[in-house]
Amino acid sequence: MPVIDVELRDRGYQVHVGPGVRELLGELIPTDAKRVAVVTQESIPWNVDPGLAQLTITVPDGESAKSMSLVEDICRKMTVAGFTRADVVVAVGGGVVTDVGGFAAAVYHRGVRFINVATTLLAQVDAAIGGKTGVNLLEGKNLVGAFWQPTAVVCDTEMLATLPVREYRSGLGEVAKYHFLGSVPDAPAGSPEGKVNADVVSACVQIKADVVAADEREGGRRAILNYGHTLAHAIETAGEYDLRHGEAVAVGIAYAAEVARLLGRISEARVMEHRRVLGAYDLPCALPEGLDADRLLDLFKRDKKAIEGVTLVLDGPNGVEPVTGIDPQVLRDALGTLR
Ligand code: GLY
Repeated sequence: MPVIDVELRDRGYQVHVGPGVRELLGELIPTDAKRVAVVTQESIPWNVDPGLAQLTITVPDGESAKSMSLVEDICRKMTVAGFTRADVVVAVGGGVVTDVGGFAAAVYHRGVRFINVATTLLAQVDAAIGGKTGVNLLEGKNLVGAFWQPTAVVCDTEMLATLPVREYRSGLGEVAKYHFLGSVPDAPAGSPEGKVNADVVSACVQIKADVVAADEREGGRRAILNYGHTLAHAIETAGEYDLRHGEAVAVGIAYAAEVARLLGRISEARVMEHRRVLGAYDLPCALPEGLDADRLLDLFKRDKKAIEGVTLVLDGPNGVEPVTGIDPQVLRDALGTLR
């Protein structure tokens, strides 16, 4: 089974990828731990066996569950159950669970070890790896958090077979992103796990691991992981459109390709390659009906990752990189191509 190292000196860890790797969990629990808090959701159809006394803490579904009060609730349950600094949190779920479970682990007794068992495709290729943990405030997403690396990550590709179709497609948006950040094999047609297999997941994980190892605290290189995300975040902020996060990222990737072409950074053929990858995963390239260009352009300016004027992560002769100060007319013209 593929094992990918996230090389962070004393905070380094391994990501285990493949069918059935959830069975490794017991071996990954540190030997001095006495109890495990499994943070998960009712809707997650997987039980894990950490091989130790287990306290299961069920958290609500949905991004709105990621709150400070939920973290307090998790920490209080661990306190009542007698958890010490030597014990371990295991987050079993998608990005909401790994974000909130990881943040609870970061702050409980000033930091306990945690392991992510990523059950969604999006979490396996992205959310469960990298150490960014946190919750939302009413004023915005992920405004409170900590860099707190897991001690191991488990990406059991058998778990992907039970995902609802839209959830799976959302993960494919992030998989598509990695095709432009590094080398990802095209998925074999008819693979039993759907459009991706363990080779595709591990290629994505390897790219994420390399980026995180180069820039753990998001000082620079990590920005490339936001490929496609500026427009995606603007769509998500603009209103309630029928797009899951990864689907919005797909539209954002198509958009970034058009902006890069208009700036002369990439050829028409490279734009077509973007469209081919997105099409191979049945991902959308068009803006939702009724979205106003002025509203999106305004939201670009307010993006929290904006440095000088609008910043977009764009493909180009040196690969994918952040580009600042883009001509607003180019941004507007590229929106007009997303049909
Ligand atoms: N937890 C996701 C990341 O660190 O990128």
